[in-house]
Parts: sequence; C-alpha cells; structure tokens
Amino acid sequence: MPLPNDEKIVALANEFIQQFDGMFGLHPGFRAAHAKGALLTGTFTPGARAAGVSRAPHFGRATTSVTVRFSNSTGIPTIPDNVPNANPRGMAVRFHLGERVHTDIVSQSTDGFPTKTGQEFLEMLRALVASDGMKTSPTPIEQFLGAHPKALAFVQTPKPTPASFAREAFFAVTALRFINKDGAARYGRYRIVPEAGVEHLDDAAAARLGENFLFDELVERVGKGVIAFRVTVQLAEEGDVVDDSTVHWPESREVVELGKIELTGTVTGDAEEQRHTIFDPIPRVDGIEASDDPLLELRAAVYLISGRRRRAAGSAQSAKIGTA
Ligand code: HEM
Repeated sequence: MPLPNDEKIVALANEFIQQFDGMFGLHPGFRAAHAKGALLTGTFTPGARAAGVSRAPHFGRATTSVTVRFSNSTGIPTIPDNVPNANPRGMAVRFHLGERVHTDIVSQSTDGFPTKTGQEFLEMLRALVASDGMKTSPTPIEQFLGAHPKALAFVQTPKPTPASFAREAFFAVTALRFINKDGAARYGRYRIVPEAGVEHLDDAAAARLGENFLFDELVERVGKGVIAFRVTVQLAEEGDVVDDSTVHWPESREVVELGKIELTGTVTGDAEEQRHTIFDPIPRVDGIEASDDPLLELRAAVYLISGRRRRAAGSAQSAKIGTA
C-alpha cells in the first residue's frame, strides 16, 4: 500500500504521530495508538446475503482465513486492561484473500467519532493536552467542546469496559461503498457483533480485576473453544450522509449479515507478527471502495507511517539481539 500523493495528508499524518508520541511517550516497536494488543486466527464464512451486497472475493468463497487483532486504546503498550482510558477497544480484521493479498476492517467499540476531519481531531487532542492541570475555566478543551457539539456528544458517549473481548461489539465507523456483481452500489458501515452477546462491567467491577484480565481471558477462552462474531453492515438510504463519521444513520436502516468470524487459536510469534502487521482502513479490493469520508485517506497514511516506523524499530531490536 503506497502513501497518498497528497502532501498535506502525509504532513497531517506525521503531525498525528508526533501528537501521540507527546501524549503517550515513545515506545519503539509499538503502535502510536492502540499499542497493547493480541492476535488470534480463524476463518470467515460468508452469509447467504453477502454476495448480494458486494462482489468482494471473500463474500463469494466458502471460507477465508482471517487474522484479528484486539487492542486497548492509547499508545501505552502496558496500559492496564481495567482502566477507563483503555476504552474504546479495537478490533482489526484481516481477510487473507491470496498470497500477499488481503483486505481489512478496522473497528472500535464506540460507534462514532468526535470530528468530521482529521485537522479538527488534531485540534481537539491539542486542546486536551493544553488543558492538562489547568484550574481556570474555560480550559481549551472546554472551549473546543463548547464550539463542537458533535465532539461533545462523542466525549459524553459511555465507553464501558467489556467483560471480555468476545463480549464486545465493534464499529468501523467510516462508510464504505459496497458494489455487487451487477454493479449495484450501496454505502454501508460495518458492525461486528459478538455471538456470545455484549457484556460490560462497571468501573468498580473492572478495577477489581487484574491488569491483563482481558488478554488473559482471551487466550484462555480461545483455548477452550471457538470465539465467534457476526460481521454485519448497516446500509445507508438515498440521502444519508456518507462522508462524515460524526453523523449516525437512523437505527431503522437495514442491517445485513455478511458472515461469521470464528476464531480458533493464538498466533505463534505474536509480538513479531503484531509489529509487522499494518492494518489499512481502506479496503483496496474489488467490490468495496472508500467513501469520501476524509478520515479514511488520513488514517491509511497514519497507520502506514506508524507501521513502517514500528517495523524499522523491530528490525533494529532483532539486529541488537543478534549481535549481543
Ligand atoms: C483522525 C482519526 C484517527 C487517527 C489520527 C487515528 C490514529 C491511529 C494510530 C496512529 C494508530 C496506530 C496505527 C499503527 O501503528 O498501526 C491507530 C490504530 C487504530 N485505530 Fe485509529 N485513528 C483515527 C480514527 C480511528 C477510527 C475512526 C477508528 C475506528 C473505526 C480507529 C480505530 C483504530 C484501531 C482499532 C486501531 C488499532 C489497529 C491495529 O490493531 O493495528 N481509529 N489509530
């Protein structure tokens, strides 16, 4: 996947990485955000209606192997699983379509985003940092949220801790354009729903658990049986806003089941694999296209730049170990 030709996007992407480095500290070899994670493997089996929505290869095949990365928020690789700041959680899915050919879904456990553009999100993060320790109101973040009601709504949306990664629902937030074999196109947003049902803990209950309780439970659970999720897509109607992640579509919009993910095992060499894997919010596969949501191109650039840095740090570490 190449960096975009647009210099402004690349410059903004680099500003984000600097911003996260400032907020979370430098942790070479780890993601600038969603740093603490684990990989699982399994398969995707399409549902009966998937091919009617998109002609993408994995919706037309019996099964496709997948790798899934569950993660905590923030760029702190040791963030305890049981603190509120570790929410929202992440679930990134890679569908292996062929030799070095894949398509991804990058989703989080909160449905929505605070700002339409990356520039505004960066302003919000800067305002947050500038407000740290400030006692006089209004602080920069209060001012930002006062002027951006959708950001305020996102900040106020509850972000509870899941009882398990297998008991959380995930939302890919940015709309994509799904095209079937007849050329019929619909905009949609992925929602990934746990087969075991959603279960959240209150902060006090979470605080009583261990700081690795979610990742420990994940390994234990997959050791005992399959962890299943349904991949669904909420379809937009004519006239719905499809280029703005702050805008929710009415809950009455049709949700179509695209298939089932069944996770069956952990990944050998998990840390190295995580370091190497760079997920891409743009599908880059025939049958699923990016929408005009400005977050997509920016995020693709941010994840790629952060990923290349992580890989380089990983190789430097391995080289050091090799010579030690
Ligand atoms: C301007 C908006 C955003 C920025 C700047 C941003 C930034 C980042 C960065 C720097 C990373 C680390 C990437 C890496 O090194 O691989 C990351 C990862 C991640 N982001 Fe975002 N993000 C944004 C929006 C979103 C949205 C809307 C979602 C939810 C759909 C999301 C979900 C995730 C997840 C799940 C990961 C972890 C992916 C993995 O497991 O590799 N982000 N983000």
